[in-house]
Amino acid sequence: MSIFSLNQDEIDYLMGRAAVLKAQQREGVRHTPLKGKTLGMIFEKASTRTRVSFEVGMYQMGGYALFLDFKDIQLSRGEAIADTARVLSRYMDGIMARTFSHEAIEELARHTTVPVINGLSDLLHPCQVLSDIFTVMEKMGGYRGVKVAYVGDGNNVAHSWINCAAKLAFQLSLACPKGYGPDPSILERARRESRGKIQLVHDPYEAVSGADIIYTDVWASMGKEDEHADRLRDFRDYQVNSRLVKAGKTGVLVMHCLPAHRGEEITDEVMDGDHCIVWDQTENRLHVQKAILEWLMG
Ligand code: CP
Ligand code: NVA
Repeated sequence: MSIFSLNQDEIDYLMGRAAVLKAQQREGVRHTPLKGKTLGMIFEKASTRTRVSFEVGMYQMGGYALFLDFKDIQLSRGEAIADTARVLSRYMDGIMARTFSHEAIEELARHTTVPVINGLSDLLHPCQVLSDIFTVMEKMGGYRGVKVAYVGDGNNVAHSWINCAAKLAFQLSLACPKGYGPDPSILERARRESRGKIQLVHDPYEAVSGADIIYTDVWASMGKEDEHADRLRDFRDYQVNSRLVKAGKTGVLVMHCLPAHRGEEITDEVMDGDHCIVWDQTENRLHVQKAILEWLMG
């Protein structure tokens, strides 16, 4: 449910399996460890990548995924999360949930007898960052010694990057505007474990100096839409544009979890330019999540 609960061996194992599953899929090899298994996917927020990649991943591995729109199930009419968890456990082999509150996913997990996967909460987006570190490894030949600069909001994606840096030997430099930094308790806990590889600054140029990867995400996450105008003002110096990209290492790679708000946190020029690897990044959601599903449900 959180990358912080994994250890380096477990993450390395998932990365290795994802590479095998990706190669198998490219070669047209069928691998169906989830035959007869079902995954329930609860969505309280919109999604393109997470929904489609989990659904396709289940299908490719011989299983079945049910899309459960929060609005259509009894949760939206007040059925308790704990009761919903007990009910779904009787039908499903696993649950993936995207919710506003992180506590809701924890409550689900406490009352199910099947694995629960966090498909994004306001606090964390672990599947995203696990697949992002896989993309980093593919492009850089590994994660050791790589410098990742995260520029923008100290949000769910930033928190999962911090948790990942606590577990793996890469350097993470975050540049967030004042008042938009990550949760201090997540940062402090990660720093204790990672022995100072995680840096938090306000100047995006300082963060990207020497960076192999520049990463960004939207300025107003789902649920923060009413703050959009204020955030446009507060984040205006944090745009990933050609000037900022030039301040990274030669050949620096640009990543974004997507959806992108072109012209806000990232320019068209960068999104459509040679440094950008977002389409490979988005594809890897599928392969890494298949590794996660196989590990938890296979
Ligand atoms: N990156 C990501 O999780 O995308 P979706 O919101 O489309 O699922
Ligand atoms: N931080 C973004 C990520 C979207 C995938 C959000 O929560 O909306």
